[in-house]
Amino acid sequence: MSPSQSPLAAYPALRLRRPRQAAWSRRLVRESSLTPNDFIWSMVVHEGDGRVPVAAMPGVERLSVKEAAKAAREAQKLGIPAIAIFPQIDGARKDPLGRHAADPNGVIPNAVKAMKDAAPDIGVMCDVALDPFTDHGHDGVIEDGRILNEATIERLVEQGLMQARAGCDILAPSDMMDGRVGALRTALEAEGLIDTMIMSYAAKYASAFYGPYREAIGSARLGAAAPNQPGDKATYQMDPGNSDEALREVALDLAEGADMVMVKPGLPYLDIVRRVVETFRVPTFAFQVSGEYAMIAAATANGWLDRDRAVLESLMAFKRAGCAGVITYFAPEAARLLGA
Ligand code: PBG
Repeated sequence: MSPSQSPLAAYPALRLRRPRQAAWSRRLVRESSLTPNDFIWSMVVHEGDGRVPVAAMPGVERLSVKEAAKAAREAQKLGIPAIAIFPQIDGARKDPLGRHAADPNGVIPNAVKAMKDAAPDIGVMCDVALDPFTDHGHDGVIEDGRILNEATIERLVEQGLMQARAGCDILAPSDMMDGRVGALRTALEAEGLIDTMIMSYAAKYASAFYGPYREAIGSARLGAAAPNQPGDKATYQMDPGNSDEALREVALDLAEGADMVMVKPGLPYLDIVRRVVETFRVPTFAFQVSGEYAMIAAATANGWLDRDRAVLESLMAFKRAGCAGVITYFAPEAARLLGA
């Protein structure tokens, strides 16, 4: 093709490949950046000793309190600002109300204290939710097959206050009851715990991508505990077909006192992230959940994807969408890849 026939003839200056030609110029014009500052390390803690692998999440292990404290020091070295902890609880301590959730001697408050002692400059975030502690696996108190909103909030407030007293920096309610952020904020203020942050799981969808998490925390198969209990979380978590509703959820949580909001799951819901960021301009996070981890881990274990590149690309996507940060099981691995 002669230059006169080239589609570029009319616009000779428009060669978008020009800045792509070298690594240095790609670096120079890159719009988004990824650093360890962007990560909240998602971590499962257990009541026993040592480290126990999670089968559905190859590469992820449940950590004892002692190991979690070591991991907090590792996070500090890697430049990861915060760790989110989730508990695996012995079945003997579970009941229909999830009473152990508010026990100040539980594995979560013990891990918080050990981690803050080991690495005082690392932020610790706790899930405010009953599902690791209920024998039916739901996030709420159940009566006649229904998840009770107000009765659940009472239990969540007890749990959240206990976590804050133990030294948790960020409470992250993940239950999706209406009004729980306001109830938590009011209770914190009343106790003088005015510095405790709240990151609400504001737009949390009823998702299949939480599958491996159930194994990780050993939670019951939904609907198995009693004949009329719901087999999914669709009456409290959001419908995957909805987007406007996510904005209402975020608006409410901010009005009720959330400092930061979260969208969950992550990659399949980046359109929601983008709308939330553009609408509210508040620190917005996304959770790259267990199923997203498992997909990348499985494909890379089979040699179908290049793990290092897939991990970093998936995390960069969150930044490009506008996230302030990402809750991810890949945090330490990605921080090392970034040269931390
Ligand atoms: C509990 C909770 C869940 C996750 C975090 N907190 C599961 C659920 O809501 O069903 C999922 C985390 C993951 O899949 O990595 N409310």
